[in-house]
Amino acid sequence: MSDPRWADVDEYLESRLGAEDEALRRAQKAAADAGLPRISVTPLQGKFLHVLARLMGARRVLEIGSLAGYSAIWLGRALPPDGKLYTLEVSPHHAQVAMANIADAGLSDKVEVIVGPALATLPVLATDPGPASFDLTFIDADKPNNAAYFSWALRLTRPGGAIVVDNVVRKGAVAGPASQDPNVVGTQHLFEAMATQTGITASALQTVGSKGYDGFAIAFVEPTGGAPQGG
Ligand code: SAH
Ligand code: DHB
Ligand code: MG
Repeated sequence: MSDPRWADVDEYLESRLGAEDEALRRAQKAAADAGLPRISVTPLQGKFLHVLARLMGARRVLEIGSLAGYSAIWLGRALPPDGKLYTLEVSPHHAQVAMANIADAGLSDKVEVIVGPALATLPVLATDPGPASFDLTFIDADKPNNAAYFSWALRLTRPGGAIVVDNVVRKGAVAGPASQDPNVVGTQHLFEAMATQTGITASALQTVGSKGYDGFAIAFVEPTGGAPQGG
């Protein structure tokens, strides 16, 4: 399922909204040269995350899944001078490329890449900087762990903060019958967790574009910790 207009419209919107600059283009070139998979967010999606972080006045952001640092550069650029983004990455090779791209973008002071499996490094962040430290958490790593990452995100994101999850639609497979794909099953588990979780208000948007058909989920962490969903 694909329509050439999706990429054409992304190209049009990027041409009007100036979605990428030279540092971001260099980051993608470095990622391709290093043989990394081309699975980052698109320029418009990266800018969308940037705008969201700006709207929130985010000072501390957590990202799970760095790849080459492309989304981290978009989010890092949204931060004030004393802001901080931690981005978690299991692959030392990906992390190395990400760190170089982040340095090239002039963001080394604000962005820290933490290398290791996120389920091992998230508990460390829960100690330092501590629970509820983050204004915004972006989950974009191995999809089978999506529900586990969401659970950590709830612990690490402050009341009034937001949790965003990438790739929650998967060409529509998320709504399909009994999937064998562990990525789809992982995302279904995420939505089951969201369905029963109190203290959040969540939505999701289907997206099309240069990366095809997918979507984002977003959850607002209620300041009271107990407000019902669906209002
Ligand atoms: N957010 C990036 C894309 C991330 S792609 C961007 O849009 O630019 C997913 C990344 O998650 C890959 O680099 C992969 O190595 C990493 N990953 C996979 N399993 C992981 C794990 N258990 N812990 C941390 N990172 C993981
Ligand atoms: C794919 C896309 C992503 O954005 C991601 O985080 C992981 C995988 C993909 O297209 O396979
Ligand atoms: Mg993704």
